[in-house]
Amino acid sequence: MQRDDALLRAYFEHAPEDIALEDIDLGRMPCHVSIIMDGNGRWAQARGLDRSQGHVAGVDSLRETVTTSVRLGVDALSVYAFSTENWKRPKREVDLLMHLFATTLVKELPLFHQENVRLKFLGDLESLPKKTFDVFKQGLDETADHTGMTFALAVNYGSRSEITRAARLIAKDVEEGRLSASQVDESVLESRLYTAGLPDPELLIRTSGELRLSNYLLWQLAYTEFYVTDKLWPDFDRWEYLRAIRAFQGRNRRFGGVVSS
Ligand code: FPP
Repeated sequence: MQRDDALLRAYFEHAPEDIALEDIDLGRMPCHVSIIMDGNGRWAQARGLDRSQGHVAGVDSLRETVTTSVRLGVDALSVYAFSTENWKRPKREVDLLMHLFATTLVKELPLFHQENVRLKFLGDLESLPKKTFDVFKQGLDETADHTGMTFALAVNYGSRSEITRAARLIAKDVEEGRLSASQVDESVLESRLYTAGLPDPELLIRTSGELRLSNYLLWQLAYTEFYVTDKLWPDFDRWEYLRAIRAFQGRNRRFGGVVSS
């Protein structure tokens, strides 16, 4: 992905003491960064605010994260915004989140145009409220020709149901004669996942210190490096992002092989 050097340096001016752009090898950026954004509720509660205020604050972190990814030249950014299990939250919170997704997307469309970002959605969008669905569809259509970073939003996403759906689609193709059972391999399954066309994430970041995958990208994270930070999502900023990349670049990725010298 192309990077604008002048913009990049200006964006990372005024670095804190422990991390700076110079600590990063720009030639070895992860091509796909994925994030489990966690801790909005705790961030709000710690300030005596309603949980919804944490989600609203989380939008600012997400905007900064999209911009940071573009500045660094990451090819794809995906974020877990709403899981299939999140419907169990109080109706008021679910309604607020659905409203926030729709309004944020409309508000941020100019940013996606300006930064040439292509939108993608992971998850079952059919059961979303109509307004949210319509705005998502508009975002998809309006950014389809963009050639810069892909920004994938996981909404009503669950990895087990994604894999089950892929298996069902394959079974149907076999049943109807478009595919034979012996042709079914990893690439056939991958092509039926919501993430079809995206490279697997090279780096997964989870905020708020939780050490769980929470039914997120179980197939795609097979060889991904994990970075867990105690920061709550509304406190996640470009510097914490750089710390994650620095940690990633310090790892020795073996993909099941032996240590490279
Ligand atoms: C997890 O925090 C966060 C979410 C379930 C929602 C993520 C939503 C946003 C960051 C808002 C902006 C997103 C878009 C796409 C506009 P939590 O509520 O689980 O926090 P807790 O673990 O402290 O309760």
